[in-house]
Amino acid sequence: MKIAALVGSNRKDSYNRQLTAYMQKRYDGKLDIEVLPIDQLPFYNQDDELNPPQIVEDLRSIIKESDGILIATPEYNGSISGMLKNALDWFSRVDQVMVNKPTMIVGASMGALGTVKAQLQLRQILNAPGIGALTLPGNEVVIGTVHEKIDADGNLMDEQTISFLDHVVENFIKWAENVKFYS
Ligand code: FNR
Repeated sequence: MKIAALVGSNRKDSYNRQLTAYMQKRYDGKLDIEVLPIDQLPFYNQDDELNPPQIVEDLRSIIKESDGILIATPEYNGSISGMLKNALDWFSRVDQVMVNKPTMIVGASMGALGTVKAQLQLRQILNAPGIGALTLPGNEVVIGTVHEKIDADGNLMDEQTISFLDHVVENFIKWAENVKFYS
């Protein structure tokens, strides 16, 4: 299953980027995860939307050809990062490449609540008409105190988190295939 991944942090040692890289390794063979360089996107400008920069076209076509989307979100001041919102705004216009795309959300933060507020807002944003992504219901991967759960090589160490992530990925694959069938 071809997955386009959006990581909402541009920080070099981002836990959300490490988590995505861990998922690339752990689910290799089931999920073919490509991380899109959304940190390279310019600020969205409606003046440019009919003639956007090449990177916008390139990322849109990767999403269009994908079977699903993975979003790894940090939590910035109780919400998603500006960088992630900027990418979603580009993808919501003209081509609307996220409409009906099966989408799995994960998020990690050092706080106890592990991006729960950001994820609630993200689900609401993804439901906007121009985006229209389908989010996996009933499975919320919120990873709190992440600095205690990832080792120096970026591997998840917490068995409970790993087995929950395995379970959600299995659910996502089954669900995404059915969504694809009906969409
Ligand atoms: C944060 N952080 C944070 N954490 C949290 O649990 N709730 C929050 O509202 C915020 N707000 C916030 C705002 C800003 C501007 C920054 C830079 C950070 C901490 C944040 O979760 C932590 O830095 C994570 O490590 C960010 O994710 P990455 O970059 O590791 O993926």
